Amino acid sequence: MSKKLFIKTYGCQMNVYDSERMTDSLVSLGYDPVTTPDDVDMVILNTCHIREKATEKVFSELGRIRREKEARAAEGKPLLIAVAGCVAQAEGEEIVRRAPFVDLVFGPQTYHRLPELVREAEQKAVERQAASGGRGTRGAGVVDTDFPVESKFDFLPEERHASSAAAFLSIQEGCDKFCSFCVVPYTRGAEFSRPVAQVLAEARRLVASGTAELTLLGQNVNAYHGEAAGGEWGLGRLIRELAEIDGLERIRYTTSHPNDVDEELVAAHRDVPQLMPYLHLPVQSGSDRVLQAMNRKHDAAAYLRVIDRLREARPDLALSSDFIVGHPGESDEDFAATLKLVTQVGYAQAYSFKYSPRPGTPAAGTDLQVDEAVKSDRLETLQQLLNAQQLAFNAASVGAVQPVLVERTGQKDGQLVGRGPYMQAVHFPGPDRLVGKIVDVRIESGHANSLAGMAVTGEWDGVPDRTSRNPEHERAIA
Ligand code: SAH
Ligand code: SF4
Ligand code: F3S
Repeated sequence: MSKKLFIKTYGCQMNVYDSERMTDSLVSLGYDPVTTPDDVDMVILNTCHIREKATEKVFSELGRIRREKEARAAEGKPLLIAVAGCVAQAEGEEIVRRAPFVDLVFGPQTYHRLPELVREAEQKAVERQAASGGRGTRGAGVVDTDFPVESKFDFLPEERHASSAAAFLSIQEGCDKFCSFCVVPYTRGAEFSRPVAQVLAEARRLVASGTAELTLLGQNVNAYHGEAAGGEWGLGRLIRELAEIDGLERIRYTTSHPNDVDEELVAAHRDVPQLMPYLHLPVQSGSDRVLQAMNRKHDAAAYLRVIDRLREARPDLALSSDFIVGHPGESDEDFAATLKLVTQVGYAQAYSFKYSPRPGTPAAGTDLQVDEAVKSDRLETLQQLLNAQQLAFNAASVGAVQPVLVERTGQKDGQLVGRGPYMQAVHFPGPDRLVGKIVDVRIESGHANSLAGMAVTGEWDGVPDRTSRNPEHERAIA
């Protein structure tokens, strides 16, 4: 009988990609992925350590799962609990100490060993269960937080359990930049690029299974320098090669660092029509003093120059960023410089956070910490400005016809949800057989977080109909 597996994913897109790979490698052990945590045989929390709140969430979720494990143990059924991802890497053994009912802890670079780790944990869990008369909840305590010399990507199953219209593809991982505030270099390890041939093979498999849009992932994806015949390729070159894959309609990449935007990448934005005109390019702060304290290794002017080059190559490029308010030492004047930069750039979307001190990072150790109330005030002011820019960007889309890649059906009957070129979520009515297709949609309204419109070529009766497909019609709208 198959066993049920539930994976809860926190944090960034790389964790989403990793969770999918974990699923792929556990299918061979007889685990069947499910989308709700009820009555499952194994739970994996794929965790994030980026801010304190993210880490706290994991421990409160573990408390809840512990009760689940107790309830199952009372019925003589085991529940295997695993903690993966960046909290697992950062806290390792500490998790097993704080939460002794956890069976397995493994970091982001060892999940290719999952089949053997799970087998070991299953075995130990059975032994402990037997020793406690069948009612115990003590975990197996298997921990693997190595940074192995081998690449996990060489060992993962090629077959994907599920396919989707828009898929993630990790091409680069880790970070050598050591920004003052950030845990990523410690949790993900040193920077690593997958070889070009491996990336292309995975991309081709995804497209063959129906994927129309690929988002290339990396903590610093534009630092990509993959081994290829005749030398190393940068991201720009890789994008050009990916664009040759028949059926790959859209390419995106995230997250980029301003210092790694080279001419080849700028040229790809100019020349490759599949490369979507939207870029997440985090700046964190608009103050040169704070940027220096953050160890970002560029000033505000250099960031603005990068944006100028990109916009020259692709005039309709929409931008997004991450901001941190209240980094140690940030003054009112520094914060005003951030607002000024936001006004200068004009963002389509952005994420902003209060600085959160992280154990082991340089910024956490300084005595220049900014008052919590000041952080909250600044965050609110910044978010008001960013939200207004986002709404203006969305409102300006009204009247345009956008090609929308339909990702899923919406909550309302007969509604579809997809994404336009600029990453905006677009809602429109249509039959569910359009999922996975690119449909031209005339935008009729722009809201805070989404757009709504009508398909330009659709002449459906409004009833989703899977039995009488009209290939001519589908070709016309696809
Ligand atoms: N590699 C990306 C960012 C990865 S982390 C880059 O270089 O931009 C995602 C975002 O989380 C960061 O851009 C930053 O804005 C935020 N972040 C990271 N550490 C943080 C901390 N200690 N407190 C608050 N926000 C943080
Ligand atoms: Fe963190 Fe900086 Fe590396 Fe981004 S570039 S992952 S913020 S250390
Ligand atoms: Fe979080 Fe790790 Fe991603 S800390 S943001 S899950 S790299």
